[in-house]
Amino acid sequence: MRQVDLRTEIGEVVLPNPVLAASGCFGAGAELLGVVDPSRLGAVVSKSMSFAPWEGNPAPRLAPAPGGGMLNAVGLQNPGVEHWAKEELPRLLSAGARVVASIWGTSVDEYIATAKRVGVLAEDLVAVEVNVSCPNLESPGEMFAHSPIHTAAVVRAVKKEVAPLPVWAKLSPNLPSVVEVARAAADAGADALVLVNTLIGLLLDVERRVPLLGNGTGGLSGPPLHPIALRAVYECAQALPGFPLVGVGGVSRPSHAVAFFLAGASAVELGAAHLADPAAGVKLVRSLRRWCRRHKVCTTAELVGTAHF
Ligand SMILES: Cc1cc2nc3c(=O)[nH]c(=O)nc-3n(C[C@H](O)[C@H](O)[C@H](O)COP(=O)(O)O)c2cc1C
Repeated sequence: MRQVDLRTEIGEVVLPNPVLAASGCFGAGAELLGVVDPSRLGAVVSKSMSFAPWEGNPAPRLAPAPGGGMLNAVGLQNPGVEHWAKEELPRLLSAGARVVASIWGTSVDEYIATAKRVGVLAEDLVAVEVNVSCPNLESPGEMFAHSPIHTAAVVRAVKKEVAPLPVWAKLSPNLPSVVEVARAAADAGADALVLVNTLIGLLLDVERRVPLLGNGTGGLSGPPLHPIALRAVYECAQALPGFPLVGVGGVSRPSHAVAFFLAGASAVELGAAHLADPAAGVKLVRSLRRWCRRHKVCTTAELVGTAHF
């Protein structure tokens, strides 16, 4: 059998392997440099950045959820894109990481401001991931990701600012079906879809009769999210044949990553698994290679979209 070659294409982005660190779960990226070698991952997605520093939600921000999951309400805390560009990005780059910048905003104008700053860094980045799972202050009570129109508006605006960098739209699973928003993002010029962000949930302290998280509700991630994310990838692969997809949700083992490939994703991102073990992604690259060897699979690309029903 030929050597296993884990090289992966996400649209025009070519990465050495299909295992990425998901946004918000790999520290700020640079702070883990002494613990793990980020150049061994396909790429590192940054914490989602806003234009100005953002404080996030009141503590507690994390709580364990049944079934090995976790609920978080960090609230997109970040030091602002300028700080990241000056302090974090150079350290990640000098460690050999391929970096995807994740951005968020509360209005299309805010996305544009952050995208403009990120666009200047185009030579240092492999893509921009647009996190649309955040409140749209121009449409109170709604997330961008829950509206095809608002998602498309953000993707179109960001694409214009960061060209020629590829734009990946990271979508929310909090919908009966993600396909309509996925199609809108693709039509608006997204180069790939990242599926999915966290699922909104609630945990209660039954003794005190109050929410466990300071924010009240939070986003569910980890193993319980896996089948939901897998369904989103499968449905989008069916609706948008050949469109580049990245699977996120409960990945920690080769079988989870392979399931995403079979459903139609060409790469995966690890979130919660990295909170438990910052080396989880690097370990997965090694175990995925062994899985491929054992199953006589030369490239993960040959698995993509091959699940049959
Ligand atoms: C503590 C925490 C912080 C997160 N922060 C972000 C973020 O800033 N931007 C984003 O797009 N997703 C964020 N996410 C979502 C993850 O990137 C990922 O989509 C989600 O956790 C599902 O993957 P997992 O099951 O592997 O954790 C965060 C998740 C967690 C647990």
